[in-house]
Amino acid sequence: MCGIIGYAGDECAVPIIVDGLKRLEYRGYDSAGIAVFGKDGFEVAKQKGRLSALEKKLESTPISGFMGIGHTRWATHGEPSDINSHPHLGSTSKIAVVHNGIIENYKHLKERLEQRGIKFVSQTDSEVVAQLAERYYDGDLLNTVIKTTNALEGSYALGIMCLDDPDTIIAVKKDNPLIVGVSEAGNFIASDVPAILEHTNKVYYMDDKEIAVITKNSVQFYNMDKEPITKQLETITWSVDSAEKGGYPHFMLKEIMEQPKVMRDTIQTIIAGENKKVIDAINIKDFDKIVVTACGSAYNAGVVSKYVFERLCRFSCEVELASEFRYKDAIVDKRTLVILVSQSGETADTIAAMREAKNKGATTLSIVNVIGSTIAKETDHTIYTAAGPEIAVATTKAFSTQLVLLYTLAIKFSGSESLMDELKTIPDKIQEIFEHVDYIQKYAAACIGYKSIFFIGRNIDYAIALEGSLKLKEISYIHSEAYAGGELKHGTISLVEENTLVVTIACCERLHGKILSNAEQVISRGAKVLFVSNCKTEETDKLSLIKLPQINELFSPSLSVIVLQLFSYYVAANKGLDIDKPRNLAKSVTVE
Ligand code: M6R
Repeated sequence: MCGIIGYAGDECAVPIIVDGLKRLEYRGYDSAGIAVFGKDGFEVAKQKGRLSALEKKLESTPISGFMGIGHTRWATHGEPSDINSHPHLGSTSKIAVVHNGIIENYKHLKERLEQRGIKFVSQTDSEVVAQLAERYYDGDLLNTVIKTTNALEGSYALGIMCLDDPDTIIAVKKDNPLIVGVSEAGNFIASDVPAILEHTNKVYYMDDKEIAVITKNSVQFYNMDKEPITKQLETITWSVDSAEKGGYPHFMLKEIMEQPKVMRDTIQTIIAGENKKVIDAINIKDFDKIVVTACGSAYNAGVVSKYVFERLCRFSCEVELASEFRYKDAIVDKRTLVILVSQSGETADTIAAMREAKNKGATTLSIVNVIGSTIAKETDHTIYTAAGPEIAVATTKAFSTQLVLLYTLAIKFSGSESLMDELKTIPDKIQEIFEHVDYIQKYAAACIGYKSIFFIGRNIDYAIALEGSLKLKEISYIHSEAYAGGELKHGTISLVEENTLVVTIACCERLHGKILSNAEQVISRGAKVLFVSNCKTEETDKLSLIKLPQINELFSPSLSVIVLQLFSYYVAANKGLDIDKPRNLAKSVTVE
């Protein structure tokens, strides 16, 4: 969703802000803008479209200053346009605001302000913050921000500057992420670490309803009663390189290739790191059931885990989409362990599901990649994936490391520690799959003409078929559905015709015959099959095989998903699409 960066320091703010915005591009956006404190007040540049368009505008009409705020906007209220882009100024141009989130009562506030003669120029909910702040402004910006945010309902991360305070940026957040970075050359606010990692690895993670007052030499935090508060400065261990493409054409490919390493790193955290302590402290005997809830790929990781928990632990495990869980009056209580899975730790529906579970007395455990994120902070227990920063919108390495932690929980809860040795073999086996990249690339190149591609599997293979299908549609824009093999005959097979492609995952040895006969059924109706399997199968002109290394069936999704990721990647690459930033999508969905 929207990205925010702000800088106050000794250096020219514009290049720092533009660079920071580029590093936030992965969040998804359709317009961008910057406001700096210039010689004669605010200088603003806003532009619909990609950051390159904003850069062009800045070349022809430069702006400059040593303090400023920048924003990438993912439209929610009002179309993507120059006017609707942030920063927004109040009508007297005294206050400039960037906002990430949704102001739910904006209509009411806007009407009240309009009745007082205030003219709005945009269709956004965010402009109301700038207008309201100007209305409340009493010469003290901190007071004004407190008063303004007290009137807001909804979610926000805000960066605010005021004409009367040429040295100060104020930041405040509720239900949307915001960090404060400190360095010798100045201080920062940002939506996420990669935006400022080149300048500093020292950050404060802001909590809801905390206010940061930032100048080039100081950072001070306050609560909503205007009392100073002390916060802990954290050191980020991610390297600057980890947020760069490192020679790959896309972040997605780089992140696919990083999987053996980050999975090893994650496994290490279970053997000796902080995660081990957290997992060891959970006694499964305290619970009657497990509920896993998450969105998108994180949900798919949950579906995989259901098969693993139930098979290994003989323990009931439900998997719920967080967007459904939050409104269904779920049956959870203090005997339920609710596992929240989220790369960003900021997904709005997953946050809401977490709070719902807590309200009902459940114990919450999160699997999160971003340290200091809302979910990581609010759950009773948190274990971290060691995936490092994931920039591509389509998740790959975060998903794989989520699986590692879910497997580990099942191993631990079932007391099947001997499976840890097998788990440790996954990274090397992924490396073996990488030896077949050329074949996958060639196969994918021949698939760009398909209008629709189906994914089928049985049991745990069905779970990973869901992920393969999601990956393909999100980056290649080819329609795709995933089905349990046994369901084909109950409707779907009517869609199969000459030259339909059915990607068939077949890693459950005991069901190999069944899924093979599903493949034959679609082939006999004209389909082509890409068979992803660790079992030996005859190749024909209708059936192409990608053979996977042998592994315990329960861990096989970690291998088959690599083929599915590479397949989707190369289909999209051959279509020449914007793989890291697919249309309409955002990396972390911080609004409902
Ligand atoms: O940050 P989260 O893991 O909570 O995000 C959940 C989904 O939005 C995410 O997995 C999404 O489905 C991915 N873009 C899929 O590749």
